[in-house]
Amino acid sequence: MSEIPRLSGPFRVGDRVQLTGPKGRLSTITLREGGELHTHHGVLRHEALVGQPDGSVVVNSSGHEYLALRPLLRDFVMSMPRGAAIVYPKDAAQILSQADIFPGAVVVEAGVGSGALSLWLLRAIGATGRLVSFERREEFADVAKANVETYVGESPATWEVVVGDLVEALPEAVAPASVDRVVLDMLAPWECIDVVADALTPGGVVLCYVATATQLSRVAEFIRATGLFTEPDANETMVRGWHVEGLAVRPDHRMIAHTGFLLTARRLAPGAVAPEQKRRASKSSYGDEDVELWTPGAVGDRQITDKNLRKRVREAQKAADGVRQAGQDAAESNP
Ligand SMILES: C[S@@+](CC[C@H](N)C(=O)[O-])C[C@H]1O[C@@H](n2cnc3c(N)ncnc32)[C@H](O)[C@@H]1O
Repeated sequence: MSEIPRLSGPFRVGDRVQLTGPKGRLSTITLREGGELHTHHGVLRHEALVGQPDGSVVVNSSGHEYLALRPLLRDFVMSMPRGAAIVYPKDAAQILSQADIFPGAVVVEAGVGSGALSLWLLRAIGATGRLVSFERREEFADVAKANVETYVGESPATWEVVVGDLVEALPEAVAPASVDRVVLDMLAPWECIDVVADALTPGGVVLCYVATATQLSRVAEFIRATGLFTEPDANETMVRGWHVEGLAVRPDHRMIAHTGFLLTARRLAPGAVAPEQKRRASKSSYGDEDVELWTPGAVGDRQITDKNLRKRVREAQKAADGVRQAGQDAAESNP
């Protein structure tokens, strides 16, 4: 990613600054020559910030204090304008790791939506990588381009946005077997798997981010049926915040419980057939072995021996006899 925006060092004109003012109110400004932030608490002159270290506290015309910090990427994506729903930072972090996005990688992304994931991908591929982002709705592509330019300060040289459906546009935009990683965040990723298989280099990773279990199942089965990928891996990430203050150390009462599922698979080399994996037959055609998998022994319950069972019967009957005898004794002593 280019030098702009400056991500550290003293504040300079052109930097974005997140201010926490009276009563914790947040506002984000871009520092300008002669710029001022007017609120009903008074006026904060931008020049009070220029030259100050990140994390400074400055005072406005009425003596109110403002904490000034450069927004982190996660702050920026959560507050930027959205055309489509964004990938949340917790999932973006997992996408970077599970799709193994590396500096210098050639990455394809679709759809670009609001550009949130594009920003994380651009950061991870660095100055020598290439990101090609596809979006079939031009207005969404415009939102994404504007968001990325706002954050980066310019349109990154490493980024190309193609307006069009991935299925038609991908084969025209990239050479076969030339892409290291593909990230799909869209409603019907299975429609794109064939073109993705052609574009991916052997060993390359496809990652699908989907919101529902039905999408997850459909894309997993589609990928399996091609025979061109390794067995898909799927997971989801839940992040629970904690309140940590004095003796009040506990999980937050609220959390974002569901965003989406991640599924990854790797492209096999041309002509390669993955070694047969021992798998259960699908549930629509299960056999005796599948039923056996659910026997008490298989799921961890110890099977009781006949001898032990007879012992348990004797114990139970003895207890019942005792109760019966106690009842008779009571009846006899209180006729
Ligand atoms: C949920 S949004 C993506 C959000 C984006 N990842 C972000 O973090 O801001 C899904 C986008 O995929 C686009 N889309 C769906 N199918 C597509 C396809 N086949 N080709 C290109 N774009 C597609 C939609 O128009 C929509 O903008």
